[in-house]
Amino acid sequence: MLSRRHFISLAATGGLSLTLKNRSVAAISQLFNKPLLQASIYIDFANPEGLIDKAIYGQFIEHLGRAINGGIFEEGSPLSDKKGIRLDVLEKIKQMQPTVLRYPGGTFTKIYHWMDGIGPLNERHGRPNLIWGGVENNHFGTDEAVAYSKIIGAEPYFSVNMGTAEEAGNWVEYCNGNQDTYYTNLRRKNGHIDPFKVKYWGLGNEEAAKPDIGRLQKVEDYVKEAWFYTKAMKLQDKSIKLILSGADDNAWNEYLLKEMGDVCDYISLHCYVGADKTKPASLFPRIEKLEKNILDLKQKIQVLTPAKVANFHRWYRFPPRPAPVKIAIDELGIWESGGGAYNLEDQYNWNHALGTATFFNIMQRQASVVGMATWAQTVNVLAPIMTSKTASVCQTIYYPMQFYRKHAGNISLKCEVKTSDIQMPGAEGAQVLDVSATLNDADGTLTLFVVNRHPELAVKTGLGNINSKKYNTVKVYELNAATILAINTLEQPQKNVVIASERKLNGVVSEYTFPAHSISALVFKKV
Ligand code: AHR
Repeated sequence: MLSRRHFISLAATGGLSLTLKNRSVAAISQLFNKPLLQASIYIDFANPEGLIDKAIYGQFIEHLGRAINGGIFEEGSPLSDKKGIRLDVLEKIKQMQPTVLRYPGGTFTKIYHWMDGIGPLNERHGRPNLIWGGVENNHFGTDEAVAYSKIIGAEPYFSVNMGTAEEAGNWVEYCNGNQDTYYTNLRRKNGHIDPFKVKYWGLGNEEAAKPDIGRLQKVEDYVKEAWFYTKAMKLQDKSIKLILSGADDNAWNEYLLKEMGDVCDYISLHCYVGADKTKPASLFPRIEKLEKNILDLKQKIQVLTPAKVANFHRWYRFPPRPAPVKIAIDELGIWESGGGAYNLEDQYNWNHALGTATFFNIMQRQASVVGMATWAQTVNVLAPIMTSKTASVCQTIYYPMQFYRKHAGNISLKCEVKTSDIQMPGAEGAQVLDVSATLNDADGTLTLFVVNRHPELAVKTGLGNINSKKYNTVKVYELNAATILAINTLEQPQKNVVIASERKLNGVVSEYTFPAHSISALVFKKV
């Protein structure tokens, strides 16, 4: 409920302002029998933000709790195939259409030795999972992660531990080598004749984090080592893309970009947020901080790194880097301290789904610099999919992920939204609507994504200059739920609180009313 005494701007009915005492906005809305909030959206068709890299729609899996073992992989389960792949989970992940799969961590990366997880199962090395507890039997390793990525249609992305550059280089050789060499032949011996062509490689994970087992918590140390890794890995396969470990620390990022700006393809950025228990909307301004962090890092990239690198030192034999350094948000998610291992088995309600959609709007809006993102995580741990021994269920946040991947075009358009100044309780500073716009250059389809994050009110919105483009068909796809607190549960896996609807709008569409707590994609076409 909004505060009882409130100014309501009626922009579309002549800019009238009313002070209405002792009535909630919802009650007033009923009184007028139409939504009172007003907004307008303008799209800048002349200056596109840039191409959207499909790699921003990725997922992350880690040997953590039930994320892999008991999540995507469960040997001996009646729900799994002969190799241990949980088929119910696989189907759900496929339907989510992830473009990248980051593995094996996370923090787990710091203790991971890839040789433990290749070859015949009975020869694999079980190890204590020193980071997250329990035992890792390594039955799901490189070969399985590559095969899994292939089945779901994603590019594998491996993170190496910062132990030795040689171990990392050998891993690249095992995956991508095609000569008559030891690790390449080992891959062949393990039944994989063709190179895996793993394109993305991360140098460590959150290397600045002091409590972790990581050994290089000073940026100077990290850079010194990372240079060595770059050579050991890129000389194995010149075509790979390296993701260097950024930090929540300006000095770290500046030093890293200054020293490694030539060879860096991506700098990583992580972002986790949660809401105040009693103020669900507090989630939104926290998510929006990500955009500020992206813009800060973008500015550092522009100042500290060359936009392209034509020639490397001849000893390196690296190919030119034709495009600027990009940001890889290789962990983003909503972290509320749920249950299960390390309190990471979060239950997500519909408000979290609105937050998830906001995350995707931000990445689409900042597409010129965000080149990759992998949602943390995928199954059971901070996850869109939850499992029990006998069932699996898609949490609310699953649906916006699927929705953005399905409807987004490949070009990001800059857009502006203005809403009246009514606030959502606990979300001071955040607008009620959050938007992004994409164009599909193959057929000219414009898609306008709008999240109405208000828990009660529909927002009547002018669509600015969209009409000038003379689109003659408009389809609206909408996701919604009965309330922002609605959840899907493993107890009732068949029941889905998320309502997906679609309809066609007739005639000229110059305004649209976005229902309370809705996620909409307005798809404009010329046919
Ligand atoms: O996703 C869970 C953990 O959060 C990851 O292992 C770590 O990188 C981050 O701090």
